[in-house]
Order: sequence, then C-alpha cells, then structure tokens
Amino acid sequence: MVEGLAGARTLRGEIPVRGAKNAVLKAMAASVLFADPVRLTNVPNIEDVSRMAELLSGLGATVTHRGRALVIDPRGIRSTTVDRGISERLRASVVLAGPILARFGSVSFPHPGGDVIGPRPIDIFLTGFRKLGARVTVSDRHYHIRAPKGGLRGGDIFFNIVSVTATESLMLAATLAKGRTTLWNAALEPEIAHLAEFLNRSGARIRGAGTATITIDGGKPLRARGRAHRTMPDRIEAGSFLILAALAAKDLSITDCEPEHIRILVELLRDAGVSITAGKTSIRVRAPRRGKRLEGFNIRTHEYPGFATDLQAPTVVYLTQAAGQSAVFETIFENRLNYTADLVRMGADITVWDPQRILIKGPAPLVGRELEGPDIRAGLAYLIAAIIAKGRSVIDNVYHIDRGYERIEERLRAVGADVTRVES
Ligand code: EPU
Repeated sequence: MVEGLAGARTLRGEIPVRGAKNAVLKAMAASVLFADPVRLTNVPNIEDVSRMAELLSGLGATVTHRGRALVIDPRGIRSTTVDRGISERLRASVVLAGPILARFGSVSFPHPGGDVIGPRPIDIFLTGFRKLGARVTVSDRHYHIRAPKGGLRGGDIFFNIVSVTATESLMLAATLAKGRTTLWNAALEPEIAHLAEFLNRSGARIRGAGTATITIDGGKPLRARGRAHRTMPDRIEAGSFLILAALAAKDLSITDCEPEHIRILVELLRDAGVSITAGKTSIRVRAPRRGKRLEGFNIRTHEYPGFATDLQAPTVVYLTQAAGQSAVFETIFENRLNYTADLVRMGADITVWDPQRILIKGPAPLVGRELEGPDIRAGLAYLIAAIIAKGRSVIDNVYHIDRGYERIEERLRAVGADVTRVES
C-alpha cells in the first residue's frame, strides 16, 4: 500500500543499489561449468535468485545462501533435466541449457517462461547449439539436445538477432567446447563482459566480451579455487531509482551503482532539466528550483548502450509528469506497453498508436488506484507512479516486484516514501 506524495518533492537520504539480477542469474548458471564450489557475493535477495537456486538444486547441486553470499557446489549434479514448473516462470532458466549441454553432453528443458512482454522464442539458441555440433529434438514443448560423441565442438555462430541470453548461453557452452567458437553480432550488455571476466578468472579463454564479436577457446571445467565473484550493481534498479528521484527527490543519492551503465538516461534527464551530479559510483539528484518545468523527450528502446527496454516503463512514468509531448517506441518486445492502460486510469494522458508505440502528453497529475503489477519492470513503474500520485494506491501481485527488487518497501521507506507491505 502506498500513500502518495501528491507531487511533493520530499525524498532524501541515500538509497544503495543491490547486485544485478541479470548478472547473478547467469553467474549461477555458469556454476555448472565448474569443478569446484563457486562463491558469489553482493547477491540480491530476490525471488528470481531463489528460483534459479531451486533449479540448480533440482539438478543435484548444493546451494547455500547466507546473507548476500551464495555458494554453489556443482559436484553433486547428476540430472540434466531442467525443472518444468520453475522454468516456465523464469526466462533466465534457458541460460542453463548451454552449460549443462557442454558439461554433461545432453540437456532437456521446457520452453522458458518469464514475463508477459512478448512471445520470447528461443530459435537462435537452438541454431547456435546446432552450430556446436548438437542435435535438437522437440516433444511436447520440451527440448532435448544432445552433443556429438566426444562433446561439443567449437563453431562459427552469427546471431541474426542481438540477444542477451543467447549470447550468454552460447558463450558458456563454448567455454567447454573443443576448439574455437566465434560469436558474431553478440549482445553488448555490461552483464556479458562481467560474466566473461568471472569465467576468465577461473580458467576460461574468452576475448571480446562487451563487443559484437566474442571468441572463446574451449577447455577443461573451470575452477574458482575459493575466490569469490562479486556481482556488479544492477543498472536497471539504479536507473529506476534515478527516475523516482527526478520526480520526488528533495535531495537523494543513489549509491553503490555504476552511473556509466545508464549514461543514456542520465544525459536525457539532465537535458530535460533534472539536477543530477554523477560520481563514479553514485548519483545525486536535487529538486529543481520552484517553478522550473521538467521537459519530456522521445525514447526508442535499443540494445546496449542504447535505451534499455527494462527502463522503458519507469521512464514512461517520468514522461507523464514532464512538459510537452513525448513519443515512446518499444522496439525489443512486442507487448511491453500494455501496462500503460493502468497509468491512464491514474490520470496519465497516453495515446496508444500501436502495440509498440505511444504518445504521452504532460504534465498530468496522477491519482492513487488499485493496480496489479504485470511484470517486474512495470511493477516498479507502478510503485513510482503510486509514490508521486495523490492519495492511496494498492499494488497487487507484488511477487513480480519481489522477483527483481530486494525488500523494496523497506528501502523506499528509508528515504521517505510511505510504502507498506500488506499481507493478504
Ligand atoms: N529473440 C528471438 N529469438 C531468440 C531469442 C530472442 O527472436 O531465440 C528476440 C526476443 O523475442 C526479443 C529480442 O530477441 O524480441 C531480444 O531479446 P533478448 O533475447 O535479448 O532478451 P532476453 O535475453 O530474453 C534479457 C533480459 C531481459 C531484458 C532483455 C533485453 C535476462 C534474464 N533477461 O532477456 O530482462 O529485457 O535481455 O535487454 O537477462 C527483466 O529483467 O525484466 C528482463 C525482461
């Protein structure tokens, strides 16, 4: 439940950013490639991490969670079948396919689920696995993939679509394939370079991660040798807090983050009139002087370093409060604007041009409503909208927010927002 600020700018203090969901889930999947236990730190306490831990335990790994540290011992893995029930709720489960196939010679997994943001096919994963010599069969929405005798072989893979998880899953598989693999048109997201650094420190030979061409010389199972891998900060959480601050801060600092990873948002908001001071690991936002208008801007979601689709929904909330007309074009996912209907119910002026394009006119004051979070990112956008609205809002289905954000209500309360969790 949220008591809105009715447009007042009162948030103050410091809000630290946790470790990145979309980095830690891949490091967890990578543990399958190891011959010894893997220790991850700065792990956020979020539902998706618990689901990935359950998937790994289901394979036979031992997963121990202590505070923000996670130890995964892969030595007990006997199964190569990824649990159906959990996978259907977690898109990141598909990243596991590459390492299981590479390490054990076969893998079975269901079509992965996730959010309601589009159909989310996996065709380019399958094409990639075939290029490494594997055979793919499909029965009852279950994929069965088998490596050739002697294991996966290095290959030349050109992705016809830039995909984050396909780049990661194939990079992981190639780490244990024989010979050299080259990934062309790979995704550039910082989580990929971060994953490659972790693997390289443990014996992998990956070059070019973070660029569009990645080469991997395959080798033996990796070894962590007791070294911990610290999860990078979550750039989507940082960007979402930045948007909240732009709308409601008196003087708020977002700490433990890497502003460089959200440079596009920082620049857009600064040009729009938001008072931002970015350091190396923190961003400070101060309220604009009285009477100063914040301006709108157009966005077109794009692969990194373009405008992240995961920041699109919170940014739309900002644009409802900014002056003028702003156009938003969601180019990555087909159904990632449906949540805007609820912002309209709160008072936003949004015209839907087509399923991937909207026009926003602002500023339009928002009023509290009962809302149901449809996915992680729209769920947090609703929370931001509720905090700046007039009156009370109730957000149902907070599981979606808990999937990606650790104890969000406590952290927002600590900087002055009136957010409480109501058990139902
Ligand atoms: N695509 C295909 N075929 C494939 C794979 C992808 O057509 O085999 C298409 C998708 O349908 C989409 C486009 O390629 O239109 C790009 O999707 P991508 O594969 O890059 O997305 P993803 O890897 O499934 C990751 C994040 C998403 C984030 C996107 C884009 C994880 C677990 N998920 O998804 O994060 O939006 O990259 O940056 O890393 C979130 O955290 O809320 C989230 C949805």
